[in-house]
Amino acid sequence: MTTARVCVVGSGGREHALAAALATGADVVVTPGNPGMAGSSTPEHRVETTPAPPGEIDADLYVIGPEVPLVGGLADRLRAAGRRVVGPGADGARLEGSKAFMKEVLAAARIPTARFGAFTEVDEARRFLRTLPGPWVVKTDGLAAGKGVVVASTLAEAEADVEAKLGGAFGEAGRRVVVEEGLAGPECSLLALCDGRVVVPMATARDFKRVGDGDHGPNTGGMGAFGPVAELEPAHVDELVDVAIEPLVAELRRRGIDYRGVLYAGLMLTEGGPRVLEFNVRFGDPEAQVVLPLLAEDPVGLLGAVADGRLASAVPGARLEPPAGASVCVVLAAEGYPGHPRTGDAISGLDGEGRLGRPVEGVTVHHAGTARQGPGEPFRTAGGRVLGITAVAPDLAEARRRAYEAVGTVSWAGARHRRDIAEAVVVG
Ligand code: AMP
Ligand code: GLY
Repeated sequence: MTTARVCVVGSGGREHALAAALATGADVVVTPGNPGMAGSSTPEHRVETTPAPPGEIDADLYVIGPEVPLVGGLADRLRAAGRRVVGPGADGARLEGSKAFMKEVLAAARIPTARFGAFTEVDEARRFLRTLPGPWVVKTDGLAAGKGVVVASTLAEAEADVEAKLGGAFGEAGRRVVVEEGLAGPECSLLALCDGRVVVPMATARDFKRVGDGDHGPNTGGMGAFGPVAELEPAHVDELVDVAIEPLVAELRRRGIDYRGVLYAGLMLTEGGPRVLEFNVRFGDPEAQVVLPLLAEDPVGLLGAVADGRLASAVPGARLEPPAGASVCVVLAAEGYPGHPRTGDAISGLDGEGRLGRPVEGVTVHHAGTARQGPGEPFRTAGGRVLGITAVAPDLAEARRRAYEAVGTVSWAGARHRRDIAEAVVVG
């Protein structure tokens, strides 16, 4: 099956990275996209954006970026219309749409994870909290854009958070909470392609979720990332696939779920071995920005094979080429993120297409929350996470150096970013 035109659904930095990767082999149309994406057109392939809904876009392959449309059944509707789709149906997307469902599936598949309970009543949640040694973790059951998790160091804080969530602070998403034991250890994101049967792991990545340097402040959607994670040797990745991902896909199949898309395991490498914190049903953001540029294979061919259930023949042995280099993404966010970000500020340091005004080798600007009145007008901030500056280089230290060199050239009033992305692994 040839793929000449790919439709990417979404508007953030992840979708920009997908568009840029796919434009190496096909024309790309992004819905709704953002005004920085067209700048990733290549001499051979165009990247364009359109407000048209995905069902009205003519393409050979559809790649759905965010969790919300997946949970809402967009992949099912496109498949029902005969389209080739990367992304699970609503049945598989429930893994991310309900943490209680995910935990139940993990338990059924015997995948190691934190001890947990799911509750709709404050008193029951409180009783369970008191059986755990602490720290305590409280999560909304439903989607909360990465902001529904609180890791509490005191029981009082955990109880207050349970009350706030069940009291309506997160609306529908928080009508049920998942309470779990707090685990400790380095975190790692493992993204894998799955075509319903075959699992192909991609490069590992580490996401920086807290808003501030040194992992201080509230959780965000992600303030930066790097990959690959050097402490995870290929043999270790194989083990993670065996204990965390293969059993999940087998359990989904037992439930009649044909999962074609990305499985993203959020893992904690504890002293007792790896534990799954969560599964997401899509590429991570900003993990996609670092993982996709490291692919040695053709992204159009790989994602087409996911949609068609052809990974076994497309990737013999189910293992990709190890990445030849490393990448680092630093997110530039607006003042106020992750609470109430300030928007409308003019961004300096970009060219007319939204690329770096002063290019740095190996660096790409991925637009997320940007807007523009029209060509020739300045790009302005229009969301919490505004830009991701992603650098690829032969090694991590150089990727980090390049990323921060470029970060120093882009700015707006109130712009902020973490200064410690990949610092500990590079500087030690
Ligand atoms: P999640 O959305 O479930 O991945 O949670 C977001 C972040 O909260 C994770 O990346 C961890 O940093 C933290 N977290 C989640 N669950 C736990 C846990 N059981 N123990 C410690 N930290 C956790
Ligand atoms: N970077 C975290 C996420 O995409 O959920």
